[in-house]
Amino acid sequence: MRSIGIIYLTLSGNTEHIALRLKELDPSIKLIPIKILDKIPRFKWRQIVKYGARTIMNRPIKYECDVSVIDDVDSIIIGSPIWVGRIPSPVRDIISSIDLKDKKIAAYCTFDTDPADFKDQLYAFTDSALFSAFHAFKEPLNDQSPQFKKALYSILTALNSSE
Ligand SMILES: Cc1cc2nc3c(=O)[nH]c(=O)nc-3n(C[C@H](O)[C@H](O)[C@H](O)COP(=O)(O)O)c2cc1C
Repeated sequence: MRSIGIIYLTLSGNTEHIALRLKELDPSIKLIPIKILDKIPRFKWRQIVKYGARTIMNRPIKYECDVSVIDDVDSIIIGSPIWVGRIPSPVRDIISSIDLKDKKIAAYCTFDTDPADFKDQLYAFTDSALFSAFHAFKEPLNDQSPQFKKALYSILTALNSSE
């Protein structure tokens, strides 16, 4: 089995929920959360206004993330919500700053109406790194559904395959 780290950002919990479900399937997975340092509004519509406006205006968002773990794992899963059609800037900053060349990579996003061009954005921000699996999870997450479970397994299987 390969060692896997999940880099993810979450405001309302969906993206983290998937990271935790993946960790349930493989407890050795290391979670690498990107923590937003601003106070996060409690209500989702306020989050959309605050972070949506910052995203549209390309304003910085303060965050912290312990990327030191990345050297110790041979596979990375990137988990990101979609904000106003984009990958949030903290996720973009992290994934474009780390060296993913020698790692297996998979990615998922969570969204509510449209996952936008998540895959194309990822390729653009990771200097054309090769992805073994992608999945877009629509909220509300139905984690009892066979499709949900299949998606989790397909991510882990792709990373553990020898290709
Ligand atoms: C600032 C902001 C902008 C969003 N923009 C979009 C969007 O453009 N398209 C979409 O489908 N969902 C959008 N959403 C919904 C989130 O992508 C969705 O709720 C996601 O699951 C949130 O992940 P989280 O619970 O891990 O924070 C937006 C949410 C926020 C907070």
